[in-house]
Amino acid sequence: MSTNTVDNNRKVTTRRLVEMKQRGEKISMLTAYDYSSAKLLDSAGIDVILVGDSASNVMAGNVTTLPITLEQMIYHAKSVMKGTSRALVVVDLPFGTYQGNSKEALASAIRIMKESHAEAVKIEGGSEIRESVERILCAGIPVMGHLGLTPQSINKFGTYSVRARDEAEAEKLISDARMLAEIGCFAIVIEKVPAELAARVAREVSVPIIGIGAGGGVDGQVLVMHDMLGINQGFSPRFLRRYADVAGVITDAVGRYIEDVKSGDFPNESESY
Ligand code: KIV
Repeated sequence: MSTNTVDNNRKVTTRRLVEMKQRGEKISMLTAYDYSSAKLLDSAGIDVILVGDSASNVMAGNVTTLPITLEQMIYHAKSVMKGTSRALVVVDLPFGTYQGNSKEALASAIRIMKESHAEAVKIEGGSEIRESVERILCAGIPVMGHLGLTPQSINKFGTYSVRARDEAEAEKLISDARMLAEIGCFAIVIEKVPAELAARVAREVSVPIIGIGAGGGVDGQVLVMHDMLGINQGFSPRFLRRYADVAGVITDAVGRYIEDVKSGDFPNESESY
């Protein structure tokens, strides 16, 4: 068996992600919110599954990520864990469950870990949430950071456009990334910032930087599965590459099913008892 085959079957851990960065191997990450999708992603060999709070948009039809609750995130995470054996599963701490104080943040993270059996949490923000991140890390819970465009702050930003174009915001992003790595985060998502800035952070920080809309100079990439599979058709930012037209496949199949039901062609004799 080649080393590659062994690696492909080996469970992905936070430590292994850091090793991947050290040897220049890119990290693949996608979102999933349910058992069946998680099973497909895991068997396809994805490294990290993110139970993202984008479930608020994609699964529940909300305009922002803000409405999703801790209970709903735990429900999604439990389903994903049942379909996953190799990938590392990371769960977003939803809006309003960690910003109040660090004890509340720890209690939310503990609920996710205890009730869903997921392996890590992700939190949006930098210096503002340092104390919460430190407290969660002290409890032995791995934390993935999230900087740049942080969708839970959409009402502060007022737009989903590219962040950190100006020097002050770019400097803050660099110092936040350094701080998150120094206090012990195992990886950091950087969303929608100039490629050059994201590449600089990836060079200067020892933990993996996973980009979304952050160019190719980082250590890995994440996309929302429904966007990259073309299930969610209404979202087409420049950074998104569509790998399939699943909405087209479903619409076509459902159309043919409706025709067959209406014409009496389905079910036929061999499909009946
Ligand atoms: O919730 C999510 O899906 C995310 C990714 C976009 C990184 O945070």
